[in-house]
Amino acid sequence: MSQPPEDGGIATSGSGLFLSFEGIDGSGKSTQARLLADALRQEGHAVVLTREPGGSPGAEEIRALVLQGDPDRWSAETEILLFTAARRDHLERTIRPALNRGAVVICDRFADSTRMYQGLSRGDLREVVDQLHDLMIGVEPDVTLLIDMDPEIGLARAKSRRGIEERFEDFGADLQRKMRAGFLDLARDDPSRVRVIDGAREPEIVASDVLAVARSALRKRTGARSVEK
Ligand code: ADP
Ligand code: TYD
Repeated sequence: MSQPPEDGGIATSGSGLFLSFEGIDGSGKSTQARLLADALRQEGHAVVLTREPGGSPGAEEIRALVLQGDPDRWSAETEILLFTAARRDHLERTIRPALNRGAVVICDRFADSTRMYQGLSRGDLREVVDQLHDLMIGVEPDVTLLIDMDPEIGLARAKSRRGIEERFEDFGADLQRKMRAGFLDLARDDPSRVRVIDGAREPEIVASDVLAVARSALRKRTGARSVEK
């Protein structure tokens, strides 16, 4: 997990690897996160597959608060606080302990989702999101796999599995396009962390690109460890 100087009190000396998946709704993140977890487990790695919002008992309770109910249930600012509270609990209870044990943590969405969804969807709140992140979270994944996808296809896929968690799924194509562009900007700004994967291919083909990126990150981690010894 890469660590800025101010870590909000949740620094970890962990030797694990922290991977996140990002992208618009329906881009195939959950499918790819699962396939990657299976592939790495088969190679003998200890893997913790987790998701946001959620991933710890308290954060899963917050998940129900933010994803269910009326779309106007929370103000944009309250929503940022709720997602960040869930993330802090997830980090404290699930992610940091797993990294400290040396596991590979695969997280379906992390802070980039708040940067895009809460930062862009209801006015420009990106700076507030970033400030709260620096104050309360302060860590980024080692590698983020951005599953890039045409919003029309992503929306159609997401709608085909409609359930009760639909506060965010009525955004419409315009906002999804804005978020796709925003995710690609993140990749341009930080290409060593955010790796773009074309999601508009067969799941197995996408998965082989994802696995190649993960293997390369694992090799770097092993290399860094042998230099430390
Ligand atoms: P996300 O987690 O990004 O919302 P999911 O992995 O849940 O996306 O996938 C959304 C839907 O699209 C699911 O029904 C899934 O089976 C399907 N799907 C996922 N990846 C692909 C793919 N590469 N091609 C076609 N359909 C896919
Ligand atoms: P998720 O279950 O990953 O949905 P999907 O599989 O459709 O991508 O996430 C649920 C919704 O929560 C999704 O619409 C994005 C939204 N979300 C935010 O708005 N902010 C956040 O910080 C996170 C983690 C998710």
